[in-house]
Amino acid sequence: MDLKNFLWGSATASYQCEGAWDLDERVESMWDHYLHEEGLENGDIASDHYHHFEEDIRMMKEGGQRAYRFSLSWPRIIKNKQGEINEKGLAFYHKILDCCHENGIEPFVTIYHWDLPQYWEETGGWLNEEVCTAFAQYAKVCFQNFHTKIRKWVTFNEPKWFVCSGYLIGNYPPCIQDVSKTIKAAYHVMYASALGIKEFREGGYEGEIGIVHSFTPVNGVDDRIETKIAMRYADNYCNNWILDTAAKGEIPIDLLSELSKQYDISYMKPEQLKIIKENTVDFLGLNYYSRTLVKPYTSGETTFVVNNSGKAGKGSSKVIVKHWFEQVMHDPNSTYTEWDTEIYPKGLKDGLLEVHQKYGLPIYITENGIGMYEDVTVPQVDDEYRISFMRDHIKAMFEAMEQGANIKGYFAWSSFDLYSWKNGCEKRYGLVAVDFDHDRIRKPKKSYTWYRDMINSNAENL
Ligand code: BG6
Repeated sequence: MDLKNFLWGSATASYQCEGAWDLDERVESMWDHYLHEEGLENGDIASDHYHHFEEDIRMMKEGGQRAYRFSLSWPRIIKNKQGEINEKGLAFYHKILDCCHENGIEPFVTIYHWDLPQYWEETGGWLNEEVCTAFAQYAKVCFQNFHTKIRKWVTFNEPKWFVCSGYLIGNYPPCIQDVSKTIKAAYHVMYASALGIKEFREGGYEGEIGIVHSFTPVNGVDDRIETKIAMRYADNYCNNWILDTAAKGEIPIDLLSELSKQYDISYMKPEQLKIIKENTVDFLGLNYYSRTLVKPYTSGETTFVVNNSGKAGKGSSKVIVKHWFEQVMHDPNSTYTEWDTEIYPKGLKDGLLEVHQKYGLPIYITENGIGMYEDVTVPQVDDEYRISFMRDHIKAMFEAMEQGANIKGYFAWSSFDLYSWKNGCEKRYGLVAVDFDHDRIRKPKKSYTWYRDMINSNAENL
């Protein structure tokens, strides 16, 4: 397999790693506000990438990596609703981008990875249509300022995940549990993404623009027709409303038809749907952690459980929805992490082939990794489980490539240990350990060296 131009890299996100939350005129994000108000563990300092980025990017280069996926922070770049630009914020990202180029690392940049400025959240956040145009304005500022240094752009990271966590399950800010608001926020995010792409195309910038999706291919518990119907709804909910909308410019009509029986969706205006239709993506980014296994909805209620507790089987955020379409299942014969994430590499191969067949677009695996408890005070973290996780998933990816899927890159999540949203810093994903208790000292884990050797050997030692 020719992997000469394959983008091997790793990924982070602004809020999860930068720290420096109130430095250099950065304003409050919805996450700062929420975590401070609730007194929860936060990303005020996180991995302090703000002050360690040179070391971090140098380590990527020394680790054989060719690309760095990171996100720009809206509250660091735009100070207020009037759109006033923070030059210090721009300067910070120019430094990161220059550092990438000096180290031969291709920047792969997400414009929005969940850190909405609090001043927009206070106007209703993603329920407010005005935020869509504000996003497009912010994206335009990013294109205008960084277009000479970035060729790979992403509008949004994981619309499904942050919308469902924020408006359906309620474990992320703004902590709402309301199906109707979930649909509206989801629609606004996909419309905002199309508006951002429109700005990109109208500006005539070089490069490509895509979206990143939290990809969970759907399996059914059996072959019954009821299960197949449940699978179709699950696929609409888990994948199609992002991927069809972004890649084909069409929100699945059977999903809309079903939703319109119960909810008012008249705010989806024809002129907006036209913009969505005309501004589709150049590529798809897929974050793969696991699959979704479903059985048919029977009657009564469907539960969504999210485990932020780090204790297997002890989901901490739970919401019960009436009249849903399917029920998500655990497979008793499978392996799960302490956060109840199933380890299922086969889903990656099957899912990649499905996405390839459906959309025919270039694909990047923009996140893949495993979160674990780890003692980072030892000289080197012996994370054999991460090596085996990555090896199995990379093999699955290669199998999909051999069968024709056009996959152009793979990013490990995460470049180094960082703040894992509601799970805090103790759920570690990094190739490099960060000792949060001792000056945020960095130490490569065993997986870092394995990844380097795998890349340098052209995956021959996989
Ligand atoms: C993805 C996100 O959903 O998964 C990341 O893009 C996130 O921001 C990662 O950190 C892992 O999820 P978690 O909740 O374990 O940190």
